[in-house]
Amino acid sequence: MNTFRMTKHVVGFTFGEPVETGILMGAKEKVSLKLPLEIAQKDGHSRFSFPLTERDRVYGLGPNLGGINKRGRKYESYCTDDPLHHEDKTTLYGAHNFFILEDDDVARGYFIDFPSRIRYDVGFTSQSQFTVDIFGENFTLLVIDGENLKSIVKNFHEVIGKPYMPPKWGLGYAQSRWGYKTAEDVRRVREAFERHDLPLDSIYLDLDYMEDFKDFSVSEERFPKLQELSQELQETGVHLVPIIDAGVKIEEGYDIYEEGIAGDHFVKNVKGEPYVAAVWPGKVHFPDFLQEKTQTWFGEKYKALTDLGIDGFWNDMNEPAIFYDETSLQEGVEAAIKAQGENLGVYAFFNLRDKFQSIGNKDEYYQRFFHEFHGKTYSNEELHNLYGFYMTKSASEGLRKILGKRFVLISRASSIGMHRYSGIWTGDNSSWWSHLSLNLRMLPALNMSGFYYVGADTGGFGGNAYGELLLRWLQLSAFTPLLRNHSALGCAQQEPYAFGTEVAEKAREILRDRYRLIPYLYSETLKAWKEGGLMFTPLAFEFWGEEAQHAEDQMLLGEELMISPVTQANAGGRYVYLPEAMAEVTFKEDQVTLTLEKEGVRYMSYALDELKFHLRRNRLLPYVPPASSTRDLEVSTLHVLGYVETEGEYELLDDDGISYGYEDEKMYSTRIRVTRGEDGVKVDVKNTHPHIKRILLTILDGENHIMEKEVLV
Ligand code: NOJ
Repeated sequence: MNTFRMTKHVVGFTFGEPVETGILMGAKEKVSLKLPLEIAQKDGHSRFSFPLTERDRVYGLGPNLGGINKRGRKYESYCTDDPLHHEDKTTLYGAHNFFILEDDDVARGYFIDFPSRIRYDVGFTSQSQFTVDIFGENFTLLVIDGENLKSIVKNFHEVIGKPYMPPKWGLGYAQSRWGYKTAEDVRRVREAFERHDLPLDSIYLDLDYMEDFKDFSVSEERFPKLQELSQELQETGVHLVPIIDAGVKIEEGYDIYEEGIAGDHFVKNVKGEPYVAAVWPGKVHFPDFLQEKTQTWFGEKYKALTDLGIDGFWNDMNEPAIFYDETSLQEGVEAAIKAQGENLGVYAFFNLRDKFQSIGNKDEYYQRFFHEFHGKTYSNEELHNLYGFYMTKSASEGLRKILGKRFVLISRASSIGMHRYSGIWTGDNSSWWSHLSLNLRMLPALNMSGFYYVGADTGGFGGNAYGELLLRWLQLSAFTPLLRNHSALGCAQQEPYAFGTEVAEKAREILRDRYRLIPYLYSETLKAWKEGGLMFTPLAFEFWGEEAQHAEDQMLLGEELMISPVTQANAGGRYVYLPEAMAEVTFKEDQVTLTLEKEGVRYMSYALDELKFHLRRNRLLPYVPPASSTRDLEVSTLHVLGYVETEGEYELLDDDGISYGYEDEKMYSTRIRVTRGEDGVKVDVKNTHPHIKRILLTILDGENHIMEKEVLV
């Protein structure tokens, strides 16, 4: 075992010869240290455990099921396409091996830099034990210290590099649907948004736009003039965001396929021939995204679509998902032929049925194809969790080169490290109330892994949403940087106007409120880029005590807000735990109200056409008037809400929303400071934002009195 130090707070322990995954960034200084735990290695496996007392808590593990506190479940890091996220599932699309273990005295962060399967049993088999099983003997384990939970996360972020920063339009509302089959469908959606006066910044194109599911192709029949469509939409402030899949259709004459063969870009089977799997287009080859030459090649291909005016993409099926491979299909077919005319007993029947029912994403597929990585050959299984990461790196670097400006990019599969290249959506959830509350609980863990541009399929992907569910979901997604309504082919239409005028009107109110908050959300995204750390913080990370630890259906957003969405049907509100006095803020029909609430548990009524949250003591929240597109956001008058007993300060960060200037700290700053003294309230403003001219403050005091003030800047 070798030991090294990356920063004051981060030390690493290397076992065997780990794969250089590319996740960690920064120098490693050799030191000699003792690992604070024991690792048992046997037969190509490694295992370590932590004893758990009743009060210990475990956080992190990225996009997973379960609570904010991960105890009481098993999890697996092995990127998997499974569209039914039932309670008993252990693995989803991401493999994020960062977690924090906290007891009453000390907390520590851990990161396992290992690209294949890891299993976590967090107090499931035995309540008093947390066991980690690594399916290999070569890996790096980081141990991360910090003064508190929040600083552990920041200290971890220092060694994984800065996150992807979306353009400002990426924070606008996105409408998506598998099943917008023609350019006319897309036009109709845009027009319906306009007719219902619903804000909109982008429409996502699912694989319906492609010719026979071929990457970088456009159906001439259904989307004959994509460039014109894209231009027409951009004129109304709406961007098109098409999907790209990992598999490349095998078809003579298809340029991507032919170039892939000529350039030797595809993963190989054991015989050294391009591996054949089947996904949407039927038989495909997978680009070997682990190779730099393939990253460059594939990344440049996005130009086919950027040339048509497109500046946003979503990378899908990049676990990679496999519907079947030739060997398994053949086995199934042979078994079926053999069974023909037989009187099958139950087990024989189950056996036959499973040959087809379990034919997708079989473990053995990932042993059947190989990558070249840093001059060595590895099976996909050995590097499995890096595939989506490197596909998205390829896209992100390609797009940056081609466009020279920021773009929207989200990926389905992910591992830590990919956060430098794109955001993520959390995959095929369902239109279930339980998935709405899961969406909330996942957010802090995604931030812990360095991902900020995150969101779930609002309204739910599978199943049929209905008006109330969609509105409640919008009341949560109104706060997530990625706000996208997406649903599956064959499910009920899910646009905000699909459930009648009443729902459309309520959705309009919520979305208008979202747009008022965009300057704040964007500022927090820039801050996350600058400083790392959490944007969504569990109450337990900020407040002491059991109540805070158990309040998993509420959380802090930035340093300013606490959000408490309703995640149950037929509710006119909910109980909210206030760890300290806060101001309850209601945005309703362009009115804003502020009411002081004492600490404790309070019932908060919450109607379907409003947006509610709490503003913390001695904090300020900037907002602007609503707009129907980020393009039209008007910041000349900045509104500021405050609950100030002594003093409060907020620095609003902004920039041009599209260039890479922020990387050289080319940001605008508006620093507002409110001080309450004996002689009244004093407001200081330091402003470098060229468009902010006036600040209108509404400040609440500890006696529930409101004061308004105007400051010209
Ligand atoms: C799977 C993705 O998760 C989903 O969002 C998409 O609609 C389908 N693939 C079809 O492309």
